Amino acid sequence: MNALLLAGGLGTRLRPLTENLPKPMALVANRPWLEHLIVHLKKQGIRHFVIAVKHYPEVIENYFGTGEKWGVNIQYAVEQTLLGTAGAIKNAEPYLDDRFIVINADIVHEIEIEPLLAFHKRHGGGVTIGLTEVDDPTHYGVVEQDGEGRILRFVEKPRLEEAPSNRINAGIYVMDKEMLRYIPEQQEVSIERETFPLLIEKGEGVYGTVISGYWMDMGTKERYRRIHWDLLNRAYRLPLPGRQNGKGIWIGKNCDIHSGVLLIPPVLIGDNVKIGERSIIGPFSVIGNDCVIGKHVRCAETIMWDRCLAHNGVVMNNCIFGYDLEIGSKHILHEAVMSRIGVLQA
Ligand code: GTP
Repeated sequence: MNALLLAGGLGTRLRPLTENLPKPMALVANRPWLEHLIVHLKKQGIRHFVIAVKHYPEVIENYFGTGEKWGVNIQYAVEQTLLGTAGAIKNAEPYLDDRFIVINADIVHEIEIEPLLAFHKRHGGGVTIGLTEVDDPTHYGVVEQDGEGRILRFVEKPRLEEAPSNRINAGIYVMDKEMLRYIPEQQEVSIERETFPLLIEKGEGVYGTVISGYWMDMGTKERYRRIHWDLLNRAYRLPLPGRQNGKGIWIGKNCDIHSGVLLIPPVLIGDNVKIGERSIIGPFSVIGNDCVIGKHVRCAETIMWDRCLAHNGVVMNNCIFGYDLEIGSKHILHEAVMSRIGVLQA
């Protein structure tokens, strides 16, 4: 059984970070999320991956290649036009096993595949949708199920009093290949809005089961930040790189941090980072690998990707910086989200 990772969307809500980068390649704790995802799934026995790509496909292909470095096999299903979440699955059909897993590659989670598969085998339907429970279902498509977990219908963005449950589609599915006959070729089709309702109508057996553990969609800047704050306060327990230097402070290899620097936890600092005297970093800050931070810099609630340079006296609050940015001396930045044209290095 192989896994299809959907990574072709434009990621418009996470621009400018995704202006020239597929959203699943956004860094999470200084590593592309897609890499965390492949490593996580490999630990659960999945060795064969298909990645459905469209927006900047070369960034993903150049980074992962055949997957050999990670001990897995990766194939790519490339779209010429955006085909939507179901169209992308149909386009990948030649690469898929008779039963396969589909994952929206922009979902940050710690799902265990085994219980999902066991449930799928037990009910015998064509699709199992991993569900997650949310406090406020009014922004989502909510499911109504029978006692066996069969999904009867989806209710889009219900009013709170009309919501049949607080369970929403988590973007993780087990599917039998026969179901792909319901998806037209080379057309833009949404799995959530078109294919699943059609499969329910045809009585193909669409079931849902609640997945456990952390779940967060990184689709917006707020949620992208939230994932990092959850990582730093360990609500989400993905292992963090570097050694822990006091509670809530992680520092990578070969760093040159002046003794007069104040690190306010929680803070994560990558490898080969330099920080000049009297700078204050944290709380809630992530500094990427090979960043250089000058003297008297103030950096709070900020995520900085690899190879950034912050000159002396810069103040950064609640910012997100993509790769290779240079932040001029004494600039004051609040809630800035910046990116630049650049090529992701493998
Ligand atoms: P927004 O433009 O911000 O809505 O983001 P998006 O369209 O990239 O993501 P969305 O949350 O709508 O999609 C969920 C997942 O499916 C993401 O991992 C996307 O990369 C992926 N996806 C969405 N549309 C396509 C598509 O047409 N082709 C492929 N291959 N993947 C897609």
